[in-house]
Amino acid sequence: MVAIEAGNVVKAFGDFIALKSISLTIAKGEFVAITGKSGSGKSTLFYSLSGLDSIDSGTVMMLGYAIHSLPEDEVHRIRNTKMGFVFQFHYLISELTTLENILMPAKKIKMHKEKMQYALYLLDYFDIQHCKDKLPSQMSGGERQRVAVARALIMNPDIIFADEPTGNLDSINSEAVMRIFKEVNKQNGTTVILITHDDEYAHMAGRQIHLKDGQIEYDVYNKAVSKKSY
Ligand SMILES: Nc1ncnc2c1ncn2[C@@H]1O[C@H](COP(=O)(O)OP(=O)(O)OP(=O)(O)O)[C@@H](O)[C@H]1O
Ligand SMILES: [Mg+2]
Repeated sequence: MVAIEAGNVVKAFGDFIALKSISLTIAKGEFVAITGKSGSGKSTLFYSLSGLDSIDSGTVMMLGYAIHSLPEDEVHRIRNTKMGFVFQFHYLISELTTLENILMPAKKIKMHKEKMQYALYLLDYFDIQHCKDKLPSQMSGGERQRVAVARALIMNPDIIFADEPTGNLDSINSEAVMRIFKEVNKQNGTTVILITHDDEYAHMAGRQIHLKDGQIEYDVYNKAVSKKSY
């Protein structure tokens, strides 16, 4: 089963072409690392594949939906229920507490009561219980980042898109993030798409798609999946 199929995706910002005809297929249940230098197009690819931003040409099929051709409310619904996002620059809601931020996707579809227990488990797992009732402005960068990861997990999404989710974290917390991504990938078959600068984490993924100047430079399957046993 296919999670994402992109055909000749082009994305430009004015005269600058950030994605130059990207085609790729990601199967359900894959764990894919997207790598490449700063400015190579990783975040742009994340926005273009998930329908968070428009594309200039090409096609994207996401879980069988032509994500760029659907009405906006339908895209919102699919994103909210089937995808989990960790943005490179957090995007927590500043007026909401940690617990409210984590439960936000569930609240939108009135499932916050059912998800409360999992939210509390995630608070505990990420060692941010002490932040439960705090606003993002009252927390450290790393704490906010773990809240964002917890929010991406809360709906048990089919696909997780995570853009540098360990960027602000020390090694213990980074490993906690990687461990839970591995776990949901293995146990629930969640497709994980992880943008990372960290070579070790890239090697932990089953597959690495490396971008250079808006194109795929290589796309390889990793045989030896990690030195560590996550
Ligand atoms: N809104 C925008 N307007 C103009 N140019 C943009 C815009 N967003 C991104 N770019 C350009 O597109 C290119 C790709 O940007 P992108 O954010 O995808 O890089 P990245 O690989 O995620 O980099 P990083 O590792 O630093 O996060 C960069 O040259 C960037 O300057
Ligand atoms: Mg980026």
